[in-house]
Amino acid sequence: MRIGILGTGNVARALAPRLITAGHDVRLGSRDPGARSGLALPTTTVQDAAAHGEVLVNATPGTESIALLAGLGEDSLSGKVLIDIAVGFTPEGVLSHLGESLGEEIQRTFPKVRVVKTFTTVDAAVMVDPDLLSGPSTQFLSGDDPDAKQIASALLADLGWPEESQLDLGGISAAAGQEHYAYLFLGIAGALGTHRFSVRVVPVK
Ligand SMILES: NC(=O)c1ccc[n+]([C@@H]2O[C@H](COP(=O)([O-])OP(=O)(O)OC[C@H]3O[C@@H](n4cnc5c(N)ncnc54)[C@H](OP(=O)(O)O)[C@@H]3O)[C@@H](O)[C@H]2O)c1
Repeated sequence: MRIGILGTGNVARALAPRLITAGHDVRLGSRDPGARSGLALPTTTVQDAAAHGEVLVNATPGTESIALLAGLGEDSLSGKVLIDIAVGFTPEGVLSHLGESLGEEIQRTFPKVRVVKTFTTVDAAVMVDPDLLSGPSTQFLSGDDPDAKQIASALLADLGWPEESQLDLGGISAAAGQEHYAYLFLGIAGALGTHRFSVRVVPVK
C-alpha cells in the first residue's frame, strides 16, 4: 500500500523501515524535509506524504495533530484511513484530551477521513518488534469504519501483531481508553525501569 507517515520522530523512524520491508511504499512527511536528509528514509513534505498515502499514519505530537491535519486540505484526507497513534501531553505532563479524545476530535473535525486509533499502549520499539516481549500481548484498535479497521489490522499483522493478538474495542469513542492508558503506561515504565513492555488481556476460562 502507499503509506504516508505524518512526522519524522521516534514512531515514524521505527515504523517506516518495517513497513518498507513488508513491501509498502512509504513516505515520511516533515515540516522541514531538508533538515531530515540524514534519515536515509523517503522523506518529503507533510503535504506530499499525505497526498501519497492511501493510508496515513499520525505520528505527530497529539497537541499539534489537529492543526497539522487542517493544513493538509480535504483532498489529502478524504476517504483515507488515518491510523492515529498520537497522544497529547501539555508541557505540564497532563493529557491534553481529557474529555473528548484526540482520536474522536480528529474524526469529528475531519469526518471524511477514517480514523483508527491503535499502538498507543506500546513504545515505538515494541510497536515494530513484539518479539522483544517475553510473551504474547494485546494490541488495541478503535474506529467507526470496519473496512478501515480491517486495513489497520492487516498492517499490524505486517508489523508482527497477528489477528489473535488484536482486540477491536469498537468505535472511535473507545480511543479515550487507549489515550488515557498513557498514565498507567508511565507508571508501569517507572516501576519496571523501561518503556519496553506491553499488556495482555486475559479473559476468564
Ligand atoms: N515514542 C513512542 O514510543 C510512542 C508510543 C506511542 C504513542 N506515541 C505518540 O506518537 C506520537 C509521535 O511520537 P514520537 O515519539 O515519534 O514523537 P517525536 O519524536 O516528538 O516526533 C514527532 C514528529 O512530529 C512532527 N511534527 C509535526 N508537527 C509538529 C509540531 N508542531 N511540533 C513538533 N513536532 C511536530 C515532527 O517531525 P518534523 O520536525 O520532521 O516535522 C516530529 O519529528 C506522539 O503523539 C506520541 O505521544 C509515541
